[in-house]
Amino acid sequence: METTAIRFHYRGQVHEVTDQPTTRTVLQYLREDLGCMGTKEGCAEGDCGACTVMVAEPDGHGGVTLRAVNSCIQFLPTLDGKALYTVEDLRQPDGSLHPVQQAMVDCHGSQCGFCTPGFVMSLWGMYLAHGPQDGAPSRTQVDDCLSGNLCRCTGYQPIVRAATDMYAYPAVEFDRAALAKILATLQRTDVFEYTFEGHTFHAPRTLAQLAQLRLQYPEARILAGSTDVGLWVTKQYRDLPHLIYIGQVHELRDIHLDGNDLCIAAGASLNDAYDALIEYVPELAELRQRFASMPIRNAGTLGGNVANGSPIGDSMPALIALGARIVLRKGERVREMPLEDFYLAYQKNAAEPGEFVQGVRVPVKVAGRQFRAYKLSKRFDQDISAVCAAFAVVLDGQGKVQSLRTGFGGVAATPCRAKTVEAALQGQAWDEAPVRAAMESVALDFKPLSDMRATSAYRLLASRNLLYRFYLETAPKAPLATRQVNVAVLADIA
Ligand code: FAD
Ligand code: FES
Ligand code: FES
Repeated sequence: METTAIRFHYRGQVHEVTDQPTTRTVLQYLREDLGCMGTKEGCAEGDCGACTVMVAEPDGHGGVTLRAVNSCIQFLPTLDGKALYTVEDLRQPDGSLHPVQQAMVDCHGSQCGFCTPGFVMSLWGMYLAHGPQDGAPSRTQVDDCLSGNLCRCTGYQPIVRAATDMYAYPAVEFDRAALAKILATLQRTDVFEYTFEGHTFHAPRTLAQLAQLRLQYPEARILAGSTDVGLWVTKQYRDLPHLIYIGQVHELRDIHLDGNDLCIAAGASLNDAYDALIEYVPELAELRQRFASMPIRNAGTLGGNVANGSPIGDSMPALIALGARIVLRKGERVREMPLEDFYLAYQKNAAEPGEFVQGVRVPVKVAGRQFRAYKLSKRFDQDISAVCAAFAVVLDGQGKVQSLRTGFGGVAATPCRAKTVEAALQGQAWDEAPVRAAMESVALDFKPLSDMRATSAYRLLASRNLLYRFYLETAPKAPLATRQVNVAVLADIA
């Protein structure tokens, strides 16, 4: 039986593809099949940004969203019903350069040029999100936008200058209404099924269809933002005979408040999920900024982070400390459990065959709760944690610990709580002496591994000291600001 064609809009026309493997990457297709060489390949693992493209899709409310993503780890069938833009699209009808490109030229933002198309696409993403009418973006916004792009030879200063200078050129509008009309013609009403040489790619459109497919094919691999799964193919050459892609299920992007809980559906992007969380828990802002890079957070989902459950994943420590519950669905049945109980052992979780993550429920309105999340890694952006720790404390009227929750990553085979530490401090005065005593208990809670990122001894010491840092930042009397705390902790270690 002939497969249904993958249909997407690119360079003014609808492309229909039937002859490509289900895990063919968008980048491979662009370069090797379409001969569009503007988009480059550097790392093939989402790290360097040379392959950055823009993907547009319906936002579910009649509009469109455009997001910069890494084409090297996106599979071609995920483009069905979407529009793809590459650096080739930026040329203006009269042949002139887009302001993003012109600013890069005028600021000397390119030398060998290999990274340039990727930078240009990331900058275009910012230009679309933060238009000329909004004024020049802040340095933090620029750094955030460029966090996924590496340049080996130009140096970043001219590129950063181009990021603000581009707003000084005559504005170029993007016709979102026209794009919405094109995309409307590409939408399907039923499950998209693409097959190639015995491999299958399913893309349900509703939660009910997803639940049914998952029951029917429990051995199939769920695909969300592809920022973990993509690398299994490009780096580990794994064969994935059956994928169920959840990116077309609009219900799975939903984020809403239910009582005191923020309910984040599994398919919400990391950027959307963190933006929503930060409204209630502003202390998560740094973790968001340091989680991977803009294009990875555009594609990757919170559900994927939680389902993958990597011991060095960054969302779980914070979510566990906040008391999040994971929502699991199997057929019609929906059940919940504390997030920490979901993780049974290294790469082993409590999901049953046929079950999937529907979302997480995060208590965000908790009176008097003080919260911090700390990520320790060698680089500020785009790096994997050596240790990630989060703490949430509620004190009673006497300054005693009414509740303390911890969440740790990088110290055990799964994301976990330091339950001995929590028990040691329960009911104690939130004071230097009990906290220092509890710091000794950290060694009872976990025995971290040594690896290329950090030694076991470092991880233990860092975990202890992060508890102390949390105490210093939340001490009832004269809490230290983050800046001062760094100095105090350093002095303490010395
Ligand atoms: P996918 O890759 O699509 O899926 C991941 C796993 O989850 C698969 O096993 C899949 O089957 C399963 N899955 C996905 N959704 C569901 C669901 N709803 N139900 C059941 N199973 C599901 N992670 C960090 O924590 N911190 C970082 O700083 C970080 N930096 C990164 C930098 C780079 C360059 C890259 C490539 C990755 C990085 N990651 C990081 C890892 C990755 O981005 C995250 O784990 C991300 O949240 C995965 O989400 P996804 O939607 O891309 O998942
Ligand atoms: Fe490096 Fe894609 S080639 S991020
Ligand atoms: Fe050479 Fe950036 S211009 S890598």
